[in-house]
Amino acid sequence: MSALSEELDKEIKKRRTFAIISHPDAGKTTLTEKLLLYGGAIHLAGSIKSRKTQRHAVSDWMEIEKQRGISVTSSVLQFDYDGCRINILDTPGHQDFSEDTYRTLMAVDSAVMVIDVAKGVEAQTKKLFKVCKQRGIPIFTFVNKLDHYGKLPIDLMDEIENVLGIRSYPMNWPIGQDGQYMGVYDRRNDKVLLFAADTTHGQQARIADVYEPDDPAVIERVGEETWQALKDDIELLDEAGEEFDMEKVNSGELTPMFFGSAMTNFGVQDFLEGYIRMAPTPQPRMSSDGLIAPDDEKFSGFVFKIQANMNPAHRDRLAFIRICSGKFERNMSVWHERSGKIIKLAQPQQFLAQDRQIIDTAYPGDIVGLFDPGIFGIGDTICDESHKFKYADFPVFPPEKFARVQAKDTMKRKQFVKGIEQLTQEGAIQLFQQAGAGMESYIVGTVGTLQFEVLEYRLKNEYNVDITMNMQPYEVARWLAFKDGSEVTPASLRGADRGMFVYDRKGNPVLLVSNEWALGWIMDNNPDLILNHVPFDR
Ligand code: G4P
Repeated sequence: MSALSEELDKEIKKRRTFAIISHPDAGKTTLTEKLLLYGGAIHLAGSIKSRKTQRHAVSDWMEIEKQRGISVTSSVLQFDYDGCRINILDTPGHQDFSEDTYRTLMAVDSAVMVIDVAKGVEAQTKKLFKVCKQRGIPIFTFVNKLDHYGKLPIDLMDEIENVLGIRSYPMNWPIGQDGQYMGVYDRRNDKVLLFAADTTHGQQARIADVYEPDDPAVIERVGEETWQALKDDIELLDEAGEEFDMEKVNSGELTPMFFGSAMTNFGVQDFLEGYIRMAPTPQPRMSSDGLIAPDDEKFSGFVFKIQANMNPAHRDRLAFIRICSGKFERNMSVWHERSGKIIKLAQPQQFLAQDRQIIDTAYPGDIVGLFDPGIFGIGDTICDESHKFKYADFPVFPPEKFARVQAKDTMKRKQFVKGIEQLTQEGAIQLFQQAGAGMESYIVGTVGTLQFEVLEYRLKNEYNVDITMNMQPYEVARWLAFKDGSEVTPASLRGADRGMFVYDRKGNPVLLVSNEWALGWIMDNNPDLILNHVPFDR
């Protein structure tokens, strides 16, 4: 074994890279903060949360975040725990989330799904879960806010199975009455963990008292009735519940489930330790040259996110790279697949809690931010010159919101086009042209409506262009082809005027309609038509 491969082996085993998927307010920010607290990366909880109300203007357009108190951008947090290096890729949590949220899920090896015990599975969780499920990555569940009244644990298990189609295996079980839980029973270790009352308002990590289940002190602390209820529940789970099967966890068919409360630190450490034990290390990735293993000594990675103007003083653009194989070294030269050029990676940045810092080395599973002079695009591969290949394309996430956009001042058309092109290249928006319409306006498609605000704000602040924007009443986009290969045009498509006929950037015909029902009509009346929810060449 070479020294490099020994080093890689050691570093890869340490790494866990994941994202938290949840609906807004389920407690993602609080849980992230508590994980950092247990990891020793922050000392008093509250530093991330307080940013929610008094955010620093890291970039111009984060003003939007400040005004609305939401997180638009995904950041990356890294901390060490128990010999492991953990990378958390944060996902924008507002319901107006964007394609960035989806793309972040392309760069992780597992996901943590946070569910509010009272609300159960909510809309955004469902959407994000679907993307994880398609990738077949392991999903871990943290049921949060157990200090609150909520649904019964058993009912939540049913809901997860019915709504998401994944079975769950409770790793621990709450002890106590609804909303007044005193601790958890750890099924794997057959131990009872009881928590003393939280006197620090969740600011400090809480250590649980650990007991053998039959220790008389347990009954004394929780009371006879609660003790009996716990025993009954566990018996039921052992007999009627799912069996634990690590293979099913790895393929995303079974989710290990943890109960806790991020705010009061109850069950958080138990979750973190269970997660680290089960979560996958960096995984191989499909490429044009087959699967690339992380311990391949030759460096490779891909761009999953591009963010412009994070620092208004420098007008910089950062490309976020997920390292997939080999060792990353500052100033190394790599082959950039899309341009076919060799480029030098000069200013790598990494993220520890809120701080950005220049780094010298990184390993598979890590994320580095690279200063981007405008060459990177979403999904780009960079790799060693001696082994050239391309990582599999990202899925296209179909836009669901559309607006007609044009510059208020026609004299500013040049800047307008430049800005729109830039945002399209960053992957923030998808661009269409209405059939038969002039060149002065575009139809812009996005996954979430927030992107329109970002578009307006950035065009104004970075390109000095005011725009008019008219939302269009469409929610479904379908790429069109005729079975016999003949061209689809507004004239050859029956019912084209029931929606809007547009062309994508490559000139492919696309129909925008208001709902699935309208789509059904088009299908019924054009039996020779093939519809696709992404371009046919993807
Ligand atoms: P998000 O990132 O998923 O949007 O959720 P976030 O962590 O911001 O939490 C949303 C709200 O839920 C916050 O309350 C937070 O304090 C609360 N919360 C998080 N974890 C728990 C928990 O375990 N138990 C209870 N009872 N509440 C929890 P807020 O009122 O919006 O903010 P704040 O006033 O607490 O700062």
